Amino acid sequence: MRSLSKTYHPTRLSRVLHRFAPLFNAFRRVWPSFHPKDAMTLPRFNILLGFGAFFLFWFLYFNYRLDQLQLDVPSEQFQPSRLQKRSYEPSKIIIYNRVPKTGSTTFTNAVAYDLCKKNGFHSIHLNMTKNRASMNIIDQRSFIENVTSWTDVSPAFYHGHVAFVDFTKFGYANPIYINMVREPLDRLLSHYYFLRFGDNYRVGLKRSRAGNNETFDECVERGGKDCDMKMMWLQIPYFCGTHSFCTEVGSKAALEQAKINLINHYLLVGHTERLVDFIALLEKVIPGFFHGALEHYNSLDENRAHLRYTKKKIPPSEQTLEKVKANPIYQMEKEFYEFAKNQFEDQWNRVTQKDGTFLLKQFHYEKIRPPLN
Ligand SMILES: *[C@@H]1O[C@H](CO)[C@@H](O)[C@H](O)[C@H]1NC(C)=O
Ligand SMILES: *[C@@H]1O[C@H](CO)[C@@H](O)[C@H](O)[C@H]1NC(C)=O
Ligand SMILES: *[C@@H]1O[C@H](CO)[C@@H](O)[C@H](O)[C@H]1NC(C)=O
Repeated sequence: MRSLSKTYHPTRLSRVLHRFAPLFNAFRRVWPSFHPKDAMTLPRFNILLGFGAFFLFWFLYFNYRLDQLQLDVPSEQFQPSRLQKRSYEPSKIIIYNRVPKTGSTTFTNAVAYDLCKKNGFHSIHLNMTKNRASMNIIDQRSFIENVTSWTDVSPAFYHGHVAFVDFTKFGYANPIYINMVREPLDRLLSHYYFLRFGDNYRVGLKRSRAGNNETFDECVERGGKDCDMKMMWLQIPYFCGTHSFCTEVGSKAALEQAKINLINHYLLVGHTERLVDFIALLEKVIPGFFHGALEHYNSLDENRAHLRYTKKKIPPSEQTLEKVKANPIYQMEKEFYEFAKNQFEDQWNRVTQKDGTFLLKQFHYEKIRPPLN
C-alpha cells in the first residue's frame, strides 16, 4: 500500500493536500488498486466519470432553463427590473372622472387647460370608446399600468367620463380623485335640452335630437325614453365604480358604494352651484396644480366663465316635478347628491370665517428636541 508520505514534497500545495491524507487513505482502502495513471482505463472510473458528466450537464441545463423562464415573460407582464425603474408618485396625478352636464367642461377648460402650462403639469383627456363609462378589468390594468409609469407627462391631470377606477386592487395607491356633482333633475334637464338645442360651446355641432322640440313636460307625460327616470342613474355609477351592480338602476349597494368611495378616495367633490368655491378650495388643497386658479377664473369674462350652458331650457311644470320627486331612482340620486353636497359644505364651513375668507393655519409645532441646528 502506497502511502502519501512517500511522495511528500514540502511545497505549500502539498501541505494543503496533506490535510486530506486521511481521506485519500480511506479511498485507497476501498479501492486498493487506484492509481491516477491507470484510472482512465478502469471501467468503474469511466462509469463514475460518465455519471459526473451527466449530472453536470443537467445542472447547467436547468440553470439555463430557469434563466429562460424569466426572460420569456412578455414585456407587459411582471418584470422586476421595470418595476424598480418606475417612480409612481400618486400625489402628482389627479383624476377627475367628470360626470356629464355638471359643469365639468367649464371647470376643465378654465382651470386645468388654462393653468397646465403655467403650473407645469399635463392635462389629458381620457376618451372612453362609445362613451362606455365603466372600464373592463383588462382596460383597468392597462390604464393603471400606463398612468403609474408614464413619467413623461407627470404631473398629470386626467379627465374623462369614466367610472371610478380603484388602483388599490392592482397594488397601487390611488391618485388624487376629484369630482363635481349636480342636482339630478337639473342635470337631466340640462342633458335633455342640450341634446335638442346644443350649447354655446360647440355651436355648429348638430346634436343627436336636433329638430325635436318636445319639452321635458311633454316627454314625461307620454313616458318618453329621453326623460325616463333611468336616465337619472348616472352620478351614483360614476362614484360607485366598475362593479356590476353599479350600473344596475336603483341598486342600494351601488348607492352605498358610491358614498364609501366618495369618503375614502376623493379628496374633494364640489357641486355645480358652488363652482367658484370649489376652485378656491382646490387651490388651497392642491396648490401644485391649481395655484392661481381662482384669480384666473374670476378674470374670465362672463361667456368664458360660464363656458358652456345649454342654449334653451324650459323649467318643468309642477306636475312634472311631483312625478319626478316621487320616483325612487330620483330619490336615490338625490340622496347621493345631498350626501356629496353636505360633505363639501361641511369642509367649506370648517375652513372659512364669517367674512368668507379662509382661516389661517390652525396648528403649529413646538417642543422640538433635540433642537434643529
Ligand atoms: C373621442 O374619440 C372619438 C373617436 O376618435 C371622437 O369621435 C370623439 O369626438 C372623441 N370625444 C371627444 C369628447 O373628444
Ligand atoms: C401610455 O400611453 C400612451 C398612449 O398610448 C403612450 O404614448 C405612452 O408611451 C404610454 N406610457 C407608458 C409608460 O407606457
Ligand atoms: C315643433 O316645431 C315644429 C316646426 O319645427 C312645429 O310645427 C311644432 O308645432 C313645434 N312643436 C312644439 C311643441 O312647439
